[in-house]
Amino acid sequence: MRRSWQGGYGPATKRGRSRVITFDSVTKRYPDGTVAVDDLSLEAPTGQITVFVGPSGCGKTTSLRMINRMIDATEGRILLDGVEVGTIDPPTLRRGIGYVIQQAGLFPHRKIVDNVATVPFLLGWDKKKARDRAMELLEVVGLDPAMAGRYPFQLSGGQQQRVGVARALAADPPVLLMDEPFSAVDPIVRTSLQDELIKLQSELHKTIVFVTHDIDEAIKLGDRVAVLRVGGKLAQLADPKTLLSEPADDFVREFLGHDRGIRRLQFIGSAGLRLRTDLTIEHEEYAIGSAEPWLLVVSPDERPVAWVSPRRPQEREPYGTFVHGQDSMRTALDAALLSPSGCAVAVDADGKVVGVATREAMDEALAEVADG
Ligand SMILES: Nc1ncnc2c1ncn2[C@@H]1O[C@H](COP(=O)(O)OP(=O)(O)O)[C@@H](O)[C@H]1O
Ligand SMILES: [Mg+2]
Repeated sequence: MRRSWQGGYGPATKRGRSRVITFDSVTKRYPDGTVAVDDLSLEAPTGQITVFVGPSGCGKTTSLRMINRMIDATEGRILLDGVEVGTIDPPTLRRGIGYVIQQAGLFPHRKIVDNVATVPFLLGWDKKKARDRAMELLEVVGLDPAMAGRYPFQLSGGQQQRVGVARALAADPPVLLMDEPFSAVDPIVRTSLQDELIKLQSELHKTIVFVTHDIDEAIKLGDRVAVLRVGGKLAQLADPKTLLSEPADDFVREFLGHDRGIRRLQFIGSAGLRLRTDLTIEHEEYAIGSAEPWLLVVSPDERPVAWVSPRRPQEREPYGTFVHGQDSMRTALDAALLSPSGCAVAVDADGKVVGVATREAMDEALAEVADG
């Protein structure tokens, strides 16, 4: 059973459980003269995921660590709900800020349950309450409670990373800082960790600052994405859709890559796709003699069965589906490309066929997207 833990554990603030983070003309110059962050001004809004993305060395980690004062800014101010972090003593500050790093950074000689309970222990909770909380969190991040008694080396990289997230959430901090948390795990595990972060965030509404060098991860996770360039300068701050459609300059365009256009489609709905309803048949034999290049065989309960070509009606070809009006153009395009017909099958939320988007319909819709 999952219990709601929005309220209850950490210190409550007058504004509720989340906080806005403000960078106000922040510069960090290291003693050797390196300017890691240059005059950075931006806001990480309450309850949203703000992603810092950019190539290696562009100042992402430095920016993140100035929020919880692992590093102090040289110039400018960082504010948490309007309070300058420089005026808050670091232990108090960090109590309200969870921190997740690459390779989880777990204590190797502590059991999983005690790793997760680290902060509650530090806060002086009694052992039982802290461990109960840890057990609850293991479940929240999708780990089998049976892992609680193991040591970090007995877990896979992906599992360790989940423990890292659970540990950061232990005292229910309103702010979560995540520095390349998923960069060291393989792509499949990484995708599921990303999906679960999105799910978790839809329940928790933390103020999250997430650092990555991976633009796909940034676009997937970010409500807002800050693209940084080497020298610690902000190149663009925008929501993912705007970033893909209106990159601010050549650096951002280059960083987004050549498949920017395709990725944009995931933010465009499929409702505008013109559907044809005259291309479905109940049996492949009915295809014989048709002038259409492809017809869709549909079962008695209105599910798609296969595409057939009137020239080879005995050969059933694969189909791809999208939920019309709910899925994006990207999904519709994928559905079209999954089939030799080049057509996408539109279904409703129950999986029943509502029509067919032909190549012509896809072309029309894509041309409209290209026109803006
Ligand atoms: N302690 C330090 N002393 C001097 N330079 C540093 C230090 N830490 C980081 N840097 C430099 O600051 C720049 C930004 O580093 P960092 O914030 O780690 O970038 P990122 O996380 O984007 O890869 C880099 O040029 C890096 O070499
Ligand atoms: Mg870094």
